Amino acid sequence: MTKEKIKVVLDGKERELPVIESTIGNPSIDIRKLGKYNYFTYDPGFTSTSACTSKITYVDGNKGELLYRGYPIEQLAEKCDYLDVSYLLMHGELPDQAQKTVYLKSIASHSLLHDQLNNIFGGFRRDAHPMAVMVGVVGSMSAFYFDNMDINDPNHRQISAQRLIAKIPTIAAWSYTYNLGLPFVYPKNEYDFGTNFLHMLFSRPYKDYEPNPIISKAFEKILILHADHEQNASTSTVRLVGSTGANPYACIAAGIASLWGPAHGGANEATLRMLTEIKDESRIKQYINRAKDKDDEFRLMGFGHRVYRNQDPRAIIMKETCHEVLDELGLNDDPIFKLAMKLEKIALEDEYFIEKKLYPNVDFYSGIVMRAIGIPFSMFTAVFALARTAGWVAHWNEMMMSDESKIGRPRQVYKGKTKRDIK
Ligand code: CMC
Repeated sequence: MTKEKIKVVLDGKERELPVIESTIGNPSIDIRKLGKYNYFTYDPGFTSTSACTSKITYVDGNKGELLYRGYPIEQLAEKCDYLDVSYLLMHGELPDQAQKTVYLKSIASHSLLHDQLNNIFGGFRRDAHPMAVMVGVVGSMSAFYFDNMDINDPNHRQISAQRLIAKIPTIAAWSYTYNLGLPFVYPKNEYDFGTNFLHMLFSRPYKDYEPNPIISKAFEKILILHADHEQNASTSTVRLVGSTGANPYACIAAGIASLWGPAHGGANEATLRMLTEIKDESRIKQYINRAKDKDDEFRLMGFGHRVYRNQDPRAIIMKETCHEVLDELGLNDDPIFKLAMKLEKIALEDEYFIEKKLYPNVDFYSGIVMRAIGIPFSMFTAVFALARTAGWVAHWNEMMMSDESKIGRPRQVYKGKTKRDIK
């Protein structure tokens, strides 16, 4: 819906550009016509560019608010489980009891991997990073599940989406057990989604994982908090790859690759490594000074966000969850947690962080919770990936349904040589 028109003067001529209103949040100037006037816009990192319209997730970075399909993240984390949320993201509404029963059955029936996929794992080095294995194995899924891969058929899209949501936890867990040289643990349908993943990660042939309701609830929260975050780098990657008509497994493999970077989903692992390196409260100032130094590439990991210029609401929930988990496990004196809280306090009182509006993000505390649960550092981003799969498939499906979608093809400002001849 257009609200008003923006007037721009190009080559001395006044041109009008429509404005697209949001249901909440800022309007966007529709610049699609600019190309006709031989002008493009320059926006590296897309800091001021809306690449699509979407009905899935809303982030208000100034207020520190996050809504999935209109529901506040705080309510979803408290009252729902991850599969409710994944259904909500995909379908727009929370499932009723009958819909949930069918959905759970479908996810459970898709959680096994094709037996030949085991051979793909075997091709990796034992010490490969689980994210590297995930990119490869998820990418290979199109070689196994091509029976329902017509991207223009809504039923096929739904089957592919459910296959991805159901199988990625199995792939993630196996990427790690493969690291350890241990046998793959198969999913068990009696467990809820999160507990099933912990079972596949921690059960051994000689001893089954013993679920703990507090840990299971905390883990579901981690999954819910990471399930979507509108047009972040990995979701934009999924949309860009999907815009070419690529199959869903290729799109999600690309999303996993994009997520791995330390500025994005790799931040939870990087935060924990940073806290371990800082080691002692007496060294915090030194690291804060490094983060502030323009000549030093070091950044305070788990701090700052492209959109939030206020508290990240996910970080607030994650910090509470951290208290609950450490309390349950009798780890209240955990030195890394204490160090993290001290670091947060010092940074939040520092002029540099205040002026730049840098707050802890979701990944500042999520790594501490995962470490307490026993999840190894190398699996932190894999957990993020399995959670974000719900958002990725919802965005991919939304893009496929939209009649405004076009192949993603940004322009550039050419700064190279002008035309010349080889002498
Ligand atoms: N430590 C020190 N300085 C920082 C930090 C940080 N963590 N984050 C931003 N700044 C500074 C930055 O140097 C810049 O300074 P100046 O204006 O003097 O050039 C200013 O704050 C604005 O930062 P920016 O880099 O322009 O912001 P951005 O939107 O491009 O980057 C970010 C956002 C998340 C990549 C960045 O804050 C960062 O690298 N944080 C650390 C990594 C991290 O925790 N990432 C997880 C993000 S949340 C999970 C997810 O959704 O992936």
